[in-house]
Amino acid sequence: MKLFDAIKPLGLAVILLPLSFVQLPAQEPSPLHWAYQISAPGVAPVPATKDDGSQRRVPDSMVSMTLSQTRDRFNAPDWHPASHPPMPQIVLNGRRPDTHACAFCHRAEGQGGAENANISGLDKGYIIRQLKEIRSAARRSASDQRASMITKHLMAASLTDDEIEAGASYFADLPARSTLKVVETDIVPKTINYMGLFTAALTGAETEPLGERIIEMPDDPERFELRDTRTTFTAYVPRGSIERGKALAAEGCVACHGEGLKGGIGPRLAGQYTSYTVRQLNDFKIGKRAGEQAGSMAGVVEKLPLSDMIALAAYAASLTP
Ligand code: HEC
Ligand code: HEC
Repeated sequence: MKLFDAIKPLGLAVILLPLSFVQLPAQEPSPLHWAYQISAPGVAPVPATKDDGSQRRVPDSMVSMTLSQTRDRFNAPDWHPASHPPMPQIVLNGRRPDTHACAFCHRAEGQGGAENANISGLDKGYIIRQLKEIRSAARRSASDQRASMITKHLMAASLTDDEIEAGASYFADLPARSTLKVVETDIVPKTINYMGLFTAALTGAETEPLGERIIEMPDDPERFELRDTRTTFTAYVPRGSIERGKALAAEGCVACHGEGLKGGIGPRLAGQYTSYTVRQLNDFKIGKRAGEQAGSMAGVVEKLPLSDMIALAAYAASLTP
């Protein structure tokens, strides 16, 4: 399937602009652009699909919405309203002008996407601490310039303590769930970044060596763009990663992150997006993530090579959350 075929189902008028006409966002940090879900240096991301006004549907849902409705940051799209409790206002609507709805980014069922984090069923106290630390900028990212982080910081900066409490209660009470599967391979589909937001296969046929990377992407970019909470993801990881990650975790992580990495002193890592886990390990390592309890991770990541980060992220993602 050619790129155009991949986006055609959305009825798009996507024009791939020549690179010289595209204002690229800052693309730091380049060696790990795959983990930060941004474009490789010098490659223009695919722009957002234009809304043609038609009603869109996703599998197993009675709801229909236009593309613009799925992009409403103050009324998060909710394809499966029966599958979660009622959302508090901060989760469903946020608060204008800057406080985008939690569920717009993390989805109504909390499993988010590779561009942010799976927060379903995380410990409530942990969620509260993270939001307060993102608000105070104690927790930052190596790629604060990517679209997801700019809006995350903007919304977090304006959150009140009551909104943090309400958002944390909602996501902590959801069952932990994941729609991610992990596949070990040497060869991956060639990919391109969409909107500076997520990775998708360029074609069905063209491939390239995976190398020391993880390629993590939605199986169907259209469902991702519609923000269908049930979009499935695949993480392509180097061969042998899961076994190696399991041994590394038994030795160095389970004591704090719990049996099956389901959470302990440290948060649940099981079922988490591999991109997210690699980003966090890197952000701890370079001191960007420097909250009250980041010290617990400092010694862990100090000498952790990229190959171990990849193995650990692959193993964690392969576990049931
Ligand atoms: C504009 C999109 C956006 C909105 C809105 C948003 N988040 Fe996030 N959130 C993110 C991104 C992106 C990250 C991941 C940061 C990273 O990769 O370092 C994140 C990270 C988090 C984390 C850290 C997860 C972890 O495991 O440490 C928590 C908790 C969280 N968000 C909760 C919330 C809650 C609750 C709300 C609503 C009050 C909310 N977020 C609203 C984008 C968003
Ligand atoms: C001494 C206890 C301890 C050990 C050992 C430890 N961690 Fe952690 N980890 C923590 C704590 C506590 C946090 C939360 C830090 C914070 O609040 O900023 C954390 C956070 C994390 C996060 C961020 C999770 C998220 O949702 O954002 C990742 C990823 C992580 N650890 C991976 C690992 C891996 C992989 C290992 C083993 C190589 C490991 N940790 C070993 C205590 C530990």
